[in-house]
Amino acid sequence: QRGDYAHYMLKEIHEQSQAVADTLEGRIAGGKVLTQIFGVEAEQLLAATQAVHIIACGTSYHAGLVARYWIEQLAGVPCTTEIASEYRYRDPVVREGTLFLTISQSGETADTLAALKLAKQMPYLAQLAVCNVPESSIVRESSLVLMTRAGPEIGVASTKAFTTQLVALALFALALGRVKGLDDARYADGVRQLEQLPGLIVETLKLDAEIKTLAERFTDKHHALFLGRGTHWPVAMEGALKLKEISYIHAEAYAAGELKHGPLALVDEDMPVIAVAPNDRLIDKLKSNLEEVRARGGQLYAFVDETVAHGLDAAHVVILPAAGEIAAPVISTLPLQLLSYHVAVLRGTDVDQPRNLAKSVTVE
Ligand code: M6R
Repeated sequence: QRGDYAHYMLKEIHEQSQAVADTLEGRIAGGKVLTQIFGVEAEQLLAATQAVHIIACGTSYHAGLVARYWIEQLAGVPCTTEIASEYRYRDPVVREGTLFLTISQSGETADTLAALKLAKQMPYLAQLAVCNVPESSIVRESSLVLMTRAGPEIGVASTKAFTTQLVALALFALALGRVKGLDDARYADGVRQLEQLPGLIVETLKLDAEIKTLAERFTDKHHALFLGRGTHWPVAMEGALKLKEISYIHAEAYAAGELKHGPLALVDEDMPVIAVAPNDRLIDKLKSNLEEVRARGGQLYAFVDETVAHGLDAAHVVILPAAGEIAAPVISTLPLQLLSYHVAVLRGTDVDQPRNLAKSVTVE
C-alpha cells in the first residue's frame, strides 16, 4: 500500500535506506563480505574467475555498467556488460574461466532469461543471478543467486531495485577483489562504505524539497543532457532513463569526455545539462567539460559531492554528502530519481504506470 505517499515511486524512493540495509543483512561480518553468500564453493569459484560477463536490460543494465568499473578496479578481473537483447543474437565467444552474471529485478525479463538459457549451453564457470524475486525463472535457471531484498517494486520506473542491485554487485566486486589480492585498506574502506550506506541514503533524501523546487525549471523542457564520468556515466544514463520514462522529456546521457565529439552542438540556453560529479580522480576533467557547457550558454545543473562544489561554475548546484567509490553511485542516483519524479508530477503524467510500458517485459 502507498500509505501517505502520493505515488508508489515516491514511496519506493524513500524505502531505499531500508531496502539497502536488508540487502546487506547477514552478508557482512567482522568487516568482511561473507563469501559463502555466493554458494558453498564460493572461494574456489571466485579464485577460478578470470573474467565476468554481465547481461541485463534497462535499469538493471545500468547497474551492471557500474559493476564493470568496480570489478575491474577492485578485483583486476576483465568485465564486460551487455544488453541481453544484443548478447543473445551475436554469437558471443566465451574464454575459459568466465563467470556469467545476470541482473534482473523481476527475474522474468524475456531477453535476459533467453540469454541465460543460451549461456547455460556455453562453457561458463557458473551463472550467477542478482535478482529481486526468489521464485522467478531467472533464479530457477541460475546455478548461483544473490538476492536483492528490495521488496515488491510496484512503480514501473525502477528505483529501489537499482540501488539494491548496486549493493549486491558491490558485495560481489569486493568478495572477488579480496580473493584476487585487493589491498586491505581499500577492501576495509569499501565494506565500511556499504555499512554506512543506509544512513547516508536517509541524509541524501532530505534534499527532496530542494529538488522539488528545482524540478519547476524542467517542466517546459523538451530535451535534457546528462553527463558523468567513470561509474557516474551509468548513473547519468539511469538519470536520463528515469526522466524520459516518466516525464516523457527526451533525455540523453553521455560520458562527459564525449561532449566535444558531437553532443556539444546541441547545447544552448534551452538545453538543461545535468552533471553528476563525485570527488574522484576524474573531477578536474569533468569540471573542464562543464566549463565548455557554460561557455555555450547551457544551463548547468550540478549534483556534486560537498568536497568538490567549491569554484564550480554552475547555475544550480545541489550538494550531496561526500561518499567514497562504492557509496557514491548509489548516493548520486537518489537526487536524479527525485528530480524525475517531481518533473513528472508537475507535468501531470501517470508516474507509476507510464504510457506504453510494462513493469516486467516478458515478451521479446
Ligand atoms: O526486471 P528487470 O530488472 O529485468 O527489468 C529490466 C528493465 O525492463 C527495467 O529495468 C526497465 O528498464 C525499468 N522500467 C526502468 O525503470
